Amino acid sequence: MVERVKTGIPGFDEILNGGIPKRNVVLLSGGPGTGKSIFGQQYLWNGLQMGEPGILVALEEHPVQVRINMRQFGWDVRPYESKGLFAIVDAFTAGIGEAAKRERYVVRDPTDVGLLVDVLREAIRDVGAQRVVIDSVSTLYLTKPSVARSIVLQLKKVLSGTGTTSFLISQVSVTERGFGGPGVEHAADGIVRLDLDEYNGELIRSMIVWKMRGTRHSMRRHPFDITDKGIIVYPDKVIRFKGRIETA
Ligand SMILES: Nc1ncnc2c1ncn2[C@@H]1O[C@H](COP(=O)(O)OP(=O)(O)OP(=O)(O)O)[C@@H](O)[C@H]1O
Ligand SMILES: [Mg+2]
Repeated sequence: MVERVKTGIPGFDEILNGGIPKRNVVLLSGGPGTGKSIFGQQYLWNGLQMGEPGILVALEEHPVQVRINMRQFGWDVRPYESKGLFAIVDAFTAGIGEAAKRERYVVRDPTDVGLLVDVLREAIRDVGAQRVVIDSVSTLYLTKPSVARSIVLQLKKVLSGTGTTSFLISQVSVTERGFGGPGVEHAADGIVRLDLDEYNGELIRSMIVWKMRGTRHSMRRHPFDITDKGIIVYPDKVIRFKGRIETA
């Protein structure tokens, strides 16, 4: 029996046959506005509700903004931060600004991956994290794609070494078919891709699990919605043609 981690995202564990195999490092890829950050935040919040501490590494947004965004879905992480069950690693501000001075885990030079790994390791140990989300890993190698694989492998070593089950958020452009580059795609234990396609003048959200080591999973493209409570996936619905929704 594979040990699994439930994401708690409605419908998503079903398409994964019960959840993510423990210790997997999963690439969560997609274009702008496809729901990657919300997905990652919901995964961490659900973990807290199940008694599993978590870490969010913020590379794209100010930690203050991340807390505000999460609260809009009813996910108020501050009490969990006070209790030492949740932490945001600030790899955004480089410690600059008044608000940044109140952050506990700050990466002084976010371009230094070694430093980021050290702060991340410390945060994982302090909160006893079982779930980690890095938003986004693309930021770490935007200017140097040749080192993408080695950066992801470095992160993977720390993450699976500490027993966490993690999502690495990967940004791809609207027209790109891939998931973030060959080195990264093969290094990851799983790939989940979120999409947004225009069909008949309407944007339709869908997702596909491209790979997930250690488990059987749906091979279909499923529609999903973002609501005021977060993401809802429809495991019984399939998008057979671009944008056309049918019941499976
Ligand atoms: N309360 C809400 N109800 C419905 N949809 C929402 C709500 N809040 C945000 N959204 C949708 O979620 C999108 C943003 O999702 P998210 O920030 O997770 O995207 P992302 O994939 O991380 O994008 P990026 O790569 O630009 O960071 C918005 O563009 C909007 O369409
Ligand atoms: Mg985002």
